[in-house]
Amino acid sequence: MIAKLKAFTVALVLIAASFAGFAQSAATHFDPAAKTFRLDGGGVTYAFGVSSRGELEPLYWGGRLAATDSVGKAEPKPEWASFDSSYTTTPQEFAGWGNGLFVEPALKVSFADGNRELVLHYVSHTALANGFDVVMRDVSRPIFVTLHYTIDPATGILARSATIENRGATAVTVEQAAAATWTLPASHYTLSYLTGRWAGEWTLNQEPVLAGARVIESRRGSTGHQANPWFALASDEANEDHGEVWFGALAWSGSWRITVERDQLDAVRVTGGFNPFDFGLILHPGQRLETPVFYGGYTRGGMGAASRILHRFELDRILPRTAGSAEEARPRPRPVIYNSWEATEFKVSEAGQMALAEKAAALGVDRFVMDDGWFGQRKDDHAGLGDWCVNQEKFPHGLKPLVDKVHQLGMDFGLWVEPEMVNPDSDLYRKHPDWVLAFPGRQRIEQRNQLVLNLARPDVRAYVYGFLDKLLTENDIAFLKWDYNRNWSEPGWDQLAPVEQKRLYVDYTRNLYSILAELRHKHPKVEIESCSGGGGRVDLGILRYTDEVWVSDNTDPFDRLTQQYGFSFAYSPQVMMAWVTDSPHWMNKRATSLSYRLLSSMEGSLGIGANIAAWTPEETTTAKRLIAAYKEVQPTIVQGGLYRLIAPTNGSAFSATETVNADRSQAVLFAYIHSTSEGYPFPVLKLKGLDPAANYQLAPIEGKAKAGTPAQASGAWWMNHGLEMGDEFRGDFQAAAFRFDKK
Ligand code: GLA
Repeated sequence: MIAKLKAFTVALVLIAASFAGFAQSAATHFDPAAKTFRLDGGGVTYAFGVSSRGELEPLYWGGRLAATDSVGKAEPKPEWASFDSSYTTTPQEFAGWGNGLFVEPALKVSFADGNRELVLHYVSHTALANGFDVVMRDVSRPIFVTLHYTIDPATGILARSATIENRGATAVTVEQAAAATWTLPASHYTLSYLTGRWAGEWTLNQEPVLAGARVIESRRGSTGHQANPWFALASDEANEDHGEVWFGALAWSGSWRITVERDQLDAVRVTGGFNPFDFGLILHPGQRLETPVFYGGYTRGGMGAASRILHRFELDRILPRTAGSAEEARPRPRPVIYNSWEATEFKVSEAGQMALAEKAAALGVDRFVMDDGWFGQRKDDHAGLGDWCVNQEKFPHGLKPLVDKVHQLGMDFGLWVEPEMVNPDSDLYRKHPDWVLAFPGRQRIEQRNQLVLNLARPDVRAYVYGFLDKLLTENDIAFLKWDYNRNWSEPGWDQLAPVEQKRLYVDYTRNLYSILAELRHKHPKVEIESCSGGGGRVDLGILRYTDEVWVSDNTDPFDRLTQQYGFSFAYSPQVMMAWVTDSPHWMNKRATSLSYRLLSSMEGSLGIGANIAAWTPEETTTAKRLIAAYKEVQPTIVQGGLYRLIAPTNGSAFSATETVNADRSQAVLFAYIHSTSEGYPFPVLKLKGLDPAANYQLAPIEGKAKAGTPAQASGAWWMNHGLEMGDEFRGDFQAAAFRFDKK
């Protein structure tokens, strides 16, 4: 065995950590005899190989195998009668369109001479620290594709992307480019994906994968509220706690597409990357196109483990670190914020904001954020976007007096911006009407009275970076809420020749990322929230440059429970900003207690967005108490392992979540009642993820356990016997929270 291992090129990386009992190491190896590549990390093994035809075929993606186990050898599958050639029946890692391929291609190009076929064969590879770069090229034309693979040692999450390069002498048009195709073992699956709309994001959809293709996508120029670039495929017997789940997330904030396909031979594959709709990027000789990264993971621990693995990966590998915590293993828990939007809307003023800041500080808020309305001629949403100078009527002395006041009160200061947009009623648009996305001779469709600046243009990029840099240089600003309040229409770029204009779909998003990266580099202490009228731009691409996201403009605490539930399948509670706002809620007119609203928001990163100037002394006391209690357990809530104990979906009268910190020394439990009926008591809450042998002390944060519940019991007791709620825990829109501390 040792001799056999030595014969291989073996790159082994061992990383000590402890996570869900996985092997905490990554290993990669290439077997030159069998021409197979293998990546092991966390609890996962991934393997692919070069077939006798030269194509790259997937071999295995599943639970981690022993180092000595074989992953087989790539061999083309036979044709299926004369209608399905071997090229289309054989799964590929990254299939070029041509040669009779009828399943979803990863790459489709057209050449100047009319040839539109591309057949990619293996050329060479390079071993990386935790992965490989594998070079392929077309069988006759010098189109090279380098597939990038890395595996995360802790979670086994793979990162896959491709670089497409034209080494020929004539231009080539890329019509469709995916980051990767993931092939699953032939089986029956349930697909989970997230959809929504403005104020109704994060609906979890679950359906069987039947024959044909299910497309999840955005054609909007940005990620979109309507679908989110995440999927999970669970084997038939899987549920929240058990069973095999394959999942993935695309790191791209422009138009994207994920196609889940079950083909005529029942093979299941997932292909994702740039949305091919209206796509067409010309690669001139020597030019390259980098695709986004498509992350993919596997677990046999059900949907719960799938999201815990993804959350951990986001915390460890995706999210930025701010200065002072750059060396930290994880980003710091979010400061508790106050945001004035729902209290004042556009009617911001120095005195009004200062009064709110005083109230916010008294509640224990860490960060005061002034929202829309502070700049240009911004009285409502008809004017001002684009003119990023302080409105002199509202702030006659600039921002400094307010910022100083916020600092004196012990908070840091944050500001709302919407850098990519312009109102036609603005000095910027009057000066540069050519800076917006537009088609020649066509109407410029306004939405929320605004147009989209063409961030792909170098002059627009320079303007946007320039004003943000100036704002951050001249003012002591710790945080930007970066908003984006409409989608594209007329995606034209008239500086370029018509055939070149579709590169907008790539260049816009790349410039967005590069502005964010440059700002963070120059102002390393500044933190940023990605907001797009709520959750319209949430994905692993933007989360490399932003610290948190605005989940939804819908802050109704009951609606938020289902939204937060859906959100949690893909994204960590760390980034899930949740504000407490006023009751009755502006949208649903639903009245709820302050304690219920606080506990709903405490599931994520807590903020206050109510008109606190109007709060009674009792409300102020309640909020102060619960904010203090939240801060004590916040790291466990936002960075611990999340267990969705009772789902709030399907008309459930109840819901509950639990989070357990990494060393299992603390757990936090939230329980919510929608509406008690027929006197049914709250179900017994059997905790998960505790150390069965350790003793945990129960402490209520809000609400009471049933009389006689032990103050201290073993993890085994809390997990097997469970926690029973007191009889008084009944009614409509009730909430309770408990902490369990290891003794
Ligand atoms: C969007 C955001 C809100 C608020 C407004 C301001 O709708 O999602 O939170 O900032 O814009 O105009």
